[in-house]
Amino acid sequence: MADHFRVFATCDIGEALDILRKRGYKLEVYPDPKAPPKALILEKLRTGIDGLITTLRDQIDAEVFEAGKGTLKVVAQFAVGFDNINRADANRYKIPFTNTADVLTEATAEFAFFMMGSLARKLWPAEHLTRDNKWGFWHPYLPFLGDEVTGKTIAIIGTGRIGLAMIKKCAGFDMNILCYDPAYQNHQYVSAIQETMDLRHARGIQKEKTWIKYVSLEEALSQADFVSVHVPLIREGESDTPTFHLFNERTLRSMKPSAFLVNTSRGPVIDEAALAMALKENWIGGAALDVYEKEPLPADSPLRDPAITDRCRLFPHFASAAKITRLSPDPDKGMAGRCVQGLIDVLEVNYGGDIKKMPYVVNKEVF
Ligand code: GLV
Repeated sequence: MADHFRVFATCDIGEALDILRKRGYKLEVYPDPKAPPKALILEKLRTGIDGLITTLRDQIDAEVFEAGKGTLKVVAQFAVGFDNINRADANRYKIPFTNTADVLTEATAEFAFFMMGSLARKLWPAEHLTRDNKWGFWHPYLPFLGDEVTGKTIAIIGTGRIGLAMIKKCAGFDMNILCYDPAYQNHQYVSAIQETMDLRHARGIQKEKTWIKYVSLEEALSQADFVSVHVPLIREGESDTPTFHLFNERTLRSMKPSAFLVNTSRGPVIDEAALAMALKENWIGGAALDVYEKEPLPADSPLRDPAITDRCRLFPHFASAAKITRLSPDPDKGMAGRCVQGLIDVLEVNYGGDIKKMPYVVNKEVF
């Protein structure tokens, strides 16, 4: 029994928390659906918390690690992204933090794909036409047509887990695929996808031959009909390959005027003011966003401009928001299960206490 461990969860993550309760942990869960103020997290830590369960809404930095000094042993993040956690500060205080990679890969990629389809085939304006009783007659091309996804060219910006899963889904829709990643390339995966494309063509499953290749950002943006973003948020100075405002006035202008941009990564990868202008002035065909520079999306965001509504789909950071993906207590299926297991591994000194061997710890470099 691990009845001496005290854990504070900044958010309820469902039945997976029962795993901790059953093991005898003293668990406190912040009851409000909104994030707790940072002052409350600091206050809890000063009472001697061993483990902290966080979400992307919590700013975890030196102040937090200082408040937990001497007692805090692990921060378990309920998300794959961890740009809210200051890695350098965690390393300075030698506190391991975990994330929930892998279990949300397919859910996030399929949502990106659905966002792309919704945007291209105009699902939102088409449903409005029907609901708002403006569907006066059937006509071959009035009041508007959508764009097919099948057979088109997509640029995948970022070929980590989620980018690769998106590639797999796009290949199934007979798309040509341009890949770009400033930091990590998986040529083996890309070759395997090309082989499946060739086989599907050879066996008559797809009519046209399709292709996949790594290219430069310029080539990807200038040739793609769709651009889907899957890079982590890396700010200037955090690495040699920052992604902050990777999409800005210059890069948006280099896309085709008919192209659609989809973002399920992190909001600050796109300069929203530039994107709003790009939509308003028709530099690009449309955009579908699930993440924003500031979340929730402010009431006065230029992305809410009624002039661009039909070409701008907006979702509430929802890509991983599927039942099993979010809440399964199984660490191989759900973010909640993986988050809890990451916490247990550190506190219960699994893997012989070797943090480097713990699969869900992110900042292994400091141990
Ligand atoms: C969601 O955005 C995540 O990082 O898990």
